[in-house]
Amino acid sequence: MLPHKKIESALQSAVREVLPDADVSTVLVRPGDPKFGDYQSNALMSLAKTRKLNPRQLATDVLAKLDLASVCEKVEIAGAGFLNFRLKNSVLVESLQAAARGEHLFFEKASSPKTIVIDFSSPNVAKPMHVGHIRSTGIGDALQRNLRLLGHSVISDNHIGDWGTQFGKLLLGWKNILDRPALECDAIAELERLYKIINAECDANPARLEEAKAELVKLQAGDAENISIWQEMTALSQKQFDEIYSRLGVKFDHALGESFYNPWLGEVVNDLLAKKIARESEGAVGVFSDSSLPPKEDPFLVNRDGEWIDDPALVRKSDGGFNYTTTDLATIDYRLKTWSPDEIVYVVDDRQSGHFKKLFAIFARWKSDDAKKVKLIHVGFGKILGDDGKPFKTRSGDTVKLGDLLNEAVERAYKTVSEKSSELPEAQRKEIARVVGLGAVKYSDLLPNRQSDYIFNWDKMLALQGNTAPYLLYAYARIKSIFRKIEVNLSLATRHSSLVLAAPEELTLANHLLNFGITVEAVAEEFRPNFLCNYLFELAGKFTGFYENCPVLKADDVATRDSRLALCDLTARVLKQGLETLGIETVEQM
Ligand code: ARG
Repeated sequence: MLPHKKIESALQSAVREVLPDADVSTVLVRPGDPKFGDYQSNALMSLAKTRKLNPRQLATDVLAKLDLASVCEKVEIAGAGFLNFRLKNSVLVESLQAAARGEHLFFEKASSPKTIVIDFSSPNVAKPMHVGHIRSTGIGDALQRNLRLLGHSVISDNHIGDWGTQFGKLLLGWKNILDRPALECDAIAELERLYKIINAECDANPARLEEAKAELVKLQAGDAENISIWQEMTALSQKQFDEIYSRLGVKFDHALGESFYNPWLGEVVNDLLAKKIARESEGAVGVFSDSSLPPKEDPFLVNRDGEWIDDPALVRKSDGGFNYTTTDLATIDYRLKTWSPDEIVYVVDDRQSGHFKKLFAIFARWKSDDAKKVKLIHVGFGKILGDDGKPFKTRSGDTVKLGDLLNEAVERAYKTVSEKSSELPEAQRKEIARVVGLGAVKYSDLLPNRQSDYIFNWDKMLALQGNTAPYLLYAYARIKSIFRKIEVNLSLATRHSSLVLAAPEELTLANHLLNFGITVEAVAEEFRPNFLCNYLFELAGKFTGFYENCPVLKADDVATRDSRLALCDLTARVLKQGLETLGIETVEQM
């Protein structure tokens, strides 16, 4: 067991001895301030708070039951009731040696793995994937990788927007003004063109709008021709989505689009009506406040000029069509029946937070027993802005297509690589540029706190200095170059050497390596890949400190050299694993 896990489990048992009914799943240890210890736990303060106990007294009682003599040099109470743990040096060394032997890489599989459905990316058919889709796609993919690394059973599902009113207009366009050659050349651009033209016509001419509605009704009624055109549109869009996913290295277990749930929507609404959860209003059907919450927290109310008014979630339109919420309700039901997940995680733009609050509340009212078995979580995120602080657009003011953005990233990276490493053959420079360019876009999106908006900046994300993907990739390649210079059989050297951690920089690096597991656990708990970005950035910095102060190949003796080589190798492995967990590939040479 890894040291932080040993501390955690000892702490959990000690807490249970003092407070037998406490929920110890939140009693976690985190990296500490090196001045005070290697690890810290603040769990006792929140436990004391909820139970109205004196936190320092609780800490003292827990400490009395805590037996960590074999792991820690000392355990101390600090501040209002923090616990600080200082690891024994021998434990640190043993743990690194086990890692050098390949027994672990500083993380452990979760002791009680969960089944987690993760809903991410979810673009809409007949619209191109734009820059904003990097957010849900990148964050979602990093989270699925991170959760899998920890041994959870993850089911990723791409909830594609492949159903809805836009298809009436698209069908009308397809039947009247389709340009086949253009469709073959760039299907989504042609579908977009159809939509724009017909949409404008519908705005200007009510008769045209009626025609579009009639096409939609035929589609929904299963008309063979319309279904087959719709299928073609969906397949063409999916082809373009798949191209982007394959470039980004993103995989889904399922892509059950909105249309998949269509057969159940009528039943959902009838059931909501029968259970008096929904009611009719002006011909439509909606779910309203049940007054169970104070107005401020009630998702079904909004404040207009100081007055709380209804803000229902519609589940059936007055024309009989169904809403986004209806589909999402059927989707939860299906996911529970099919996979019995412990959690369903939605990686979707924060602008939809109102939708998810309503959705989760309706589900809890609709299927209260099922709702108790699953945690529904909206993992939201902010916008990507341009230099002007407004949503990021092309110079001409259009939305930036994701495919174009990725091309530009790779082209820009190619220029830098060719300047810096002109000696490398072109094919290799191209490959480096691909990894660096895609990595830079993904990393710059994962790095900020996901809820904040961030400003898109090519120079910043592609810089070799600073908290960027190129910097981390370069750090990795530099370590790899050390091993290219020597002829030592690394596995022999590191497996059999005993590690010596003497210099302060060696100790700092070793301690930080040990924190990899805690970091990925924290990412999984809070759905925040930025924790891992910052961890890796610090790792690269600590490695530099070590490398500058502790000669490796020119070490005084073979034992020291091999010990330091082992540290180099472990750093490279953690960097690679960490980047891979963020969905970023590595190159051996840059
Ligand atoms: N297609 C939707 C959109 O582009 C996102 C879907 C998110 N997932 C969900 N289950 N609602 O806004």
